[in-house]
Amino acid sequence: MTDTAETTDIPEYPMERAAKCPFNPPPKLQALQEETPITRVRLSDGSTPWLVTGYADQKAALADPRVSSDVTRKGYPSPRATDQFDTDGEQPERKDPGIGFILMDDPEHARLRRMVTAPFMIKRIEAMRPAVQKIADDLIDAMLAGPNPADLVEAFALPLPSLVISDLLGVPYADHDFFQENSKVIINTEVTEAQRNGAMGNLVGYLDNLVGEKMKAPGDDLLSGLVGRVENGELTRIGAAQIGMLLLIAGHETTANMIALGTLALLEHPDQLKLLQETDDPKLVASAVEELLRYLHITHNGRRRAVLEDMEIGGQTVKAGEGLIMANDIGNRDPRVFADPDRLDLTREARNHVAFGFGVHQCLGQSLARMELQVVYGTLYKRIPTLALAADMAAIPFKHDASVYGVYELPVTW
Ligand code: HEM
Repeated sequence: MTDTAETTDIPEYPMERAAKCPFNPPPKLQALQEETPITRVRLSDGSTPWLVTGYADQKAALADPRVSSDVTRKGYPSPRATDQFDTDGEQPERKDPGIGFILMDDPEHARLRRMVTAPFMIKRIEAMRPAVQKIADDLIDAMLAGPNPADLVEAFALPLPSLVISDLLGVPYADHDFFQENSKVIINTEVTEAQRNGAMGNLVGYLDNLVGEKMKAPGDDLLSGLVGRVENGELTRIGAAQIGMLLLIAGHETTANMIALGTLALLEHPDQLKLLQETDDPKLVASAVEELLRYLHITHNGRRRAVLEDMEIGGQTVKAGEGLIMANDIGNRDPRVFADPDRLDLTREARNHVAFGFGVHQCLGQSLARMELQVVYGTLYKRIPTLALAADMAAIPFKHDASVYGVYELPVTW
């Protein structure tokens, strides 16, 4: 049993953001960082894992092999708000949800990750830059030729990374409504387990079919590369489909949210937006990408882990079988690392942020995400200098119910 609290003053997690500050982490969470390096929090299922508040402790824990990403391990904190424990607080046995290597430990994690690292190396990603620039320009042309106002999410933020990752994987973009809808369900923290499993079943089934087609007629894409691994026995066919699903979801949901939420943050900080509109310096654009990643930290529900051996974190002994949450959103606002951390400053040195996580699970797609965001932030506001919000901030639907933060819609005019 996870030491469920004797006391009732354990704060609930996740916490609510302040309505007027949609870009800042929840105020109660930020206050915790000032109070303590590590504290228990209560999840909706009644469990009370440890929450690590400081940047340095978070990085140390994420790099520690005694800290596991294996979701079936005792104590692993549930990512869903709908999970319920039995009345005695005992964590039910959780099955591997089959979402690829992100929820596995080494050596199996490393073995599978290595199969797909080559296409995400910087050189290969840089070679894609002109094609991504063309996608951005074409989408902007189409948006400008269409109705004004428009929803930036639908017209630009979602199609851009979806087109890029579909092409890289060898998934037909024509199926985008299907894979986007199912991804949305999978990353929603308030759906039931049955709904989530249904959406995962749909996507894995779809990718399994695609792997089957590529076995007959391989192309020059990542999924076809995995077919070779299936054929020589390194990977099961379902394993290939699961890796495909992980890359498909991670490849479009995250970047899409950074594009839309980043644009909203810039529209709300016109002095910073102006810097991007007036610069021709790729270094400033790259620095803007890092700062927006730090400031917005869209994977806002913490990196979740289970502890395998007793260990000390932030002066506290954490026992084997207990859960850990590294709240990287407040790690990125740690004043010991980033001066005046709540200020959006595109010129600051922010590349050491933890928006891509840290340790062996650090984001595989970070070079791709960086390149896409550099193209977008370096293009969109110059091409549409009059871009403005076409709704009240209060009417913008924020993704409080998703493990990746952002906006469902962003009405813009020009
Ligand atoms: C701005 C965009 C992105 C953000 C903020 C982001 C964030 C993250 C974070 C925080 C992790 C660590 C998860 C953990 O430690 O538990 C991660 C892992 C991962 N990301 Fe990203 N990501 C982004 C874009 C992408 C893209 C474009 C891809 C391309 C397919 C991708 C693929 C992955 C994969 C495969 C993992 C798992 C790595 C592993 O377990 O070894 N991500 N990402």
